[in-house]
Amino acid sequence: MDKRGGFKTERLFCRGIKPEDARIIVKWRGAPENTRFFLNPAPLTLKRHLEWFESYEDDPGRIDFLVTVLRSNENIGTVGLKNAGGGVWEVSYMIGEPSARGNGYASEMVKGACSYAALKLGAAALKAVIHAENLSSIRLAERLGFSPLPVKDGYFKDYFLAVKTNG
Ligand SMILES: CC(C)(COP(=O)(O)OP(=O)(O)OC[C@H]1O[C@@H](n2cnc3c(N)ncnc32)[C@H](O)[C@@H]1OP(=O)(O)O)[C@@H](O)C(=O)NCCC(=O)NCCS
Repeated sequence: MDKRGGFKTERLFCRGIKPEDARIIVKWRGAPENTRFFLNPAPLTLKRHLEWFESYEDDPGRIDFLVTVLRSNENIGTVGLKNAGGGVWEVSYMIGEPSARGNGYASEMVKGACSYAALKLGAAALKAVIHAENLSSIRLAERLGFSPLPVKDGYFKDYFLAVKTNG
């Protein structure tokens, strides 16, 4: 897996995260408005993130991208893919800069990540695990064609998208 590569969409550049991105990722992960619906909303420390990054670099089952707006060069968030087994990859996403929300950037980067998963990682399906109260994330997933599965528990729902690869 090429962790330094990435993909472009119409307005965004998404490239594999690097150690130099640690500060901005830790800043975004320290903002409760970004993480309140995460499975683990605890803020990250720089030290913990850098320790995690060492194991991430050798992990073939996960890739995270830093997302930049092509026109302004502004870093706005992250999108990630994690191997959930059986050809299914879980997509996660965050627009870390609240001022960048509501522009369709998240939809664009998640759509790009789904194509990347199908074409580069051989994913047969994508999965998103979304808090039942995270309405903007639910709208996003449904807009991209994800379908909800029956509720697992009271708080998190699984959304699935079957992806087509060539052939
Ligand atoms: C979930 C999250 C990524 C959604 O971000 P977002 O900016 O609202 O999502 P989009 O970029 O797709 O923008 C969607 C909105 O912009 C509008 N929009 C404007 N231009 C658009 C375009 N070109 N294409 C699509 N939507 C566009 C849409 O109508 C939509 O409005 P709505 O939410 O009122 O229906 C963001 O709220 C976030 O980062 N939250 C914190 C982290 C998080 O919860 N992540 C998900 C964990 S499952």
